[in-house]
Amino acid sequence: MSPDEAARFIRPGDNVGMSGFTGAGYPKLVPGALVRRVEDATARGDRFTVGVWTGASTAPELDGALAAVDAIDLRMPYQSDPVSRAKINAGLVDYLDLHLSHVAQMVWEGAFGHLDVAVVEVSGITADGELIPSSSVGNNKTWIDQADRVIVEVNSWQLAEFEGMHDIYYGTALPPMRRPIQIVHSADRIGVPTFHCPPEKIVAVVETAHPDRNTVFKPVDEVSQQIAGHLLEFLSYEVKHDRLPAGLLPLQSGVGNIANAVLRGLDGGPFRPLTAYTEVIQDGMLALLRSGTMESISATAFSLSEEGAADLHTNIAQYRDRIVLRPQEISNHPEVIRRLGCLAMNGAIETDIYGNVNSTHVMGSSIMNGIGGSGDFARNAYMAMFLTPSIAKGGAISSIVPMVSHVDHTEHDVHVIITEQGVADLRGLAPRRRAQRIIDQCAHPSYRPMLQDYFDRARQSSPGQHTPHLIEESLSWHARFLRTGTMRPE
Ligand code: COA
Repeated sequence: MSPDEAARFIRPGDNVGMSGFTGAGYPKLVPGALVRRVEDATARGDRFTVGVWTGASTAPELDGALAAVDAIDLRMPYQSDPVSRAKINAGLVDYLDLHLSHVAQMVWEGAFGHLDVAVVEVSGITADGELIPSSSVGNNKTWIDQADRVIVEVNSWQLAEFEGMHDIYYGTALPPMRRPIQIVHSADRIGVPTFHCPPEKIVAVVETAHPDRNTVFKPVDEVSQQIAGHLLEFLSYEVKHDRLPAGLLPLQSGVGNIANAVLRGLDGGPFRPLTAYTEVIQDGMLALLRSGTMESISATAFSLSEEGAADLHTNIAQYRDRIVLRPQEISNHPEVIRRLGCLAMNGAIETDIYGNVNSTHVMGSSIMNGIGGSGDFARNAYMAMFLTPSIAKGGAISSIVPMVSHVDHTEHDVHVIITEQGVADLRGLAPRRRAQRIIDQCAHPSYRPMLQDYFDRARQSSPGQHTPHLIEESLSWHARFLRTGTMRPE
């Protein structure tokens, strides 16, 4: 069927579950056809909006294009598109920023209403009608299970060799029927390689050969390299003191410049054999597999640059057996993350002197991306590490502040903070000791005296001395930035 014919199965007011996790495995054609339907409706003076549910972020031709024509009523559970972000921050789109592990269970529970349509990219359909997943799994199993109507995009650009690489677990249930998830090593397979979908649910099959959106990496900068250097030195110290094994523990890594620098630093290094139990496979992880530094990777999606995708396509034979792609309810599952003892490395927008971390909000009210899987991993990891440059916007902002303007990860979930200045290992430290360590080790020198002054005065006059704060002053740094464009004093 053509994409335009298929898009006719999406009606105003529908909730639509789309495939896609980062720029991988999202439907390439039906979203564009939906945009055309919305434009036609708007031209007639009709309102046409839908709820858009995905695995995580997608691509401009899905998130950006739908947001641009005001087609999205509610978006969940994660986005990072500039147009979509602007609409959310203007109050024009409702956004549910969810822990990625919660989504499937909450859909099953009925917390978000009914799922009307699933639009899912697959890499093929077997002779007996099973759907072969593509470069991301995300929430596709749940969308196919829950939706009334399923639109399948079969993408021949995706590799035929993907068949057999995925592990789709059909054993999840709502309480009180839950059973243990039997993953005891990060590469364990406990499911089946394909999605089941009753044929009568499939209302359209659309063919495409469009590539995934490539992740664009900036060259690794000096600050990222310094942060990666501190992290690697810290891990060496932990291994030397027998607090971590020589091959570390399964790694979870966010994406971006710092993560790239960390992965690059691990390649050929002393820690081996590494494993990863994470959400996305980026170029650096493929490189670790190639060099033999890493044994296996469990994830829910690829997130590759153009070169990374070319490498995967050329060398799939050597990667295939060492990669498992799972539904995100499993890749982010608290039970498994806790059992495996993951080492979680995620970015932060800001952290405060007591170790609370804000990953999502700029100046307390504007969303950046969302919490994604960082909370699933931080809360349940063996060690939760947050990595951030100590300053932002050319130094107008200190990423270490007296009190974060929004909390995603509380002091109870944050074990280690690393900036280009150094490492603050917060384990075993009560709040006042944490504050001194963060100020000493992580703050930028140009903000350190201001933070020390705040902390010293709080220790003198805060009514409570467990977590000393000057409440009226605690968010004054943000207020000053909003007023003057810098956190530095006027
Ligand atoms: N105040 C205001 N803005 C800040 C800031 C601060 N303290 N710190 C960073 N920023 C801005 C940067 O200036 C940049 O803005 P720009 O895009 O306009 O240039 C933007 O935030 C991104 O910062 P950057 O330093 O490039 O970091 P990043 O790309 O590593 O992203 C997060 C950092 C926190 C936004 C990102 O890691 C994220 O979205 N995390 C939540 C989800 C997650 O952890 N997923 C992975 C695990 S599943």
